[in-house]
Amino acid sequence: MLTKQSYIFFLILFTIISFSALAIAHQSDEVFSRYISPSSLGLKREKLSHLHFYFHDLVSGKNATAVRVAEAPSTNSSSSSFGAVVMIDDPLTIKPDVNSKMVGRAQGIYAFASQTDFSLLMVFNFVFTQGKYNGSTLSVLGRNKVVSTVREMPIVGGSGLFRFARGYAQARPYSNSQAHTIVEYNVYVFHY
Ligand SMILES: *[C@@H]1O[C@H](CO)[C@@H](O)[C@H](O)[C@H]1NC(C)=O
Ligand SMILES: *[C@@H]1O[C@H](CO)[C@@H](O)[C@H](O)[C@H]1NC(C)=O
Ligand SMILES: *[C@@H]1O[C@H](CO)[C@@H](O)[C@H](O)[C@H]1NC(C)=O
Repeated sequence: MLTKQSYIFFLILFTIISFSALAIAHQSDEVFSRYISPSSLGLKREKLSHLHFYFHDLVSGKNATAVRVAEAPSTNSSSSSFGAVVMIDDPLTIKPDVNSKMVGRAQGIYAFASQTDFSLLMVFNFVFTQGKYNGSTLSVLGRNKVVSTVREMPIVGGSGLFRFARGYAQARPYSNSQAHTIVEYNVYVFHY
């Protein structure tokens, strides 16, 4: 036979245990982040790489790699083509010749983003297809002032060998014709 005191004691004990169990269950339900060590992802020393290649923007013809996909009603009357949006899948080659070895492609969008000069918003990925970089990407998000001799755009990230990448790309015009623009790229990037 339980005394009144021991009954109350067991009731309190039971209540405490139930609440603690509930609190623990609740807590583990809500945890979705934790600290881990860089070595658990195989990250060792941060490296700086320099990549050099040529970018080919083919805007017309059967083999066009840059197509205008959108524009504003006022784009045609804008001196800077403000509002035009171009989707690209441009080849990247090791030499200025478009038929030289291809190292990857530039896939994404450039848009005419200034009402006063030719300044582009560039949002694209370098998708590499050669050697150890095959399948790895670098993401570019930046402003490209077309008339400058050197245009600089940030590298905001990457995938594959370029996980955790950050850096910048410098673009210099190499040659320019109505249908085919060649741009020389020097990319400097920190990665692991
Ligand atoms: C398109 O590409 C093919 C295959 O590379 C080539 O034979 C052809 O001459 C190109 N056409 C034009 C208009 O550049
Ligand atoms: C702009 O000009 C191009 C070429 O002349 C034409 O194909 C297009 O329909 C025009 N766009 C608008 C919105 O007027
Ligand atoms: C790159 O990777 C793809 C897919 O894994 C493969 O099909 C292709 O042959 C590789 N290219 C080179 C040059 O290694």
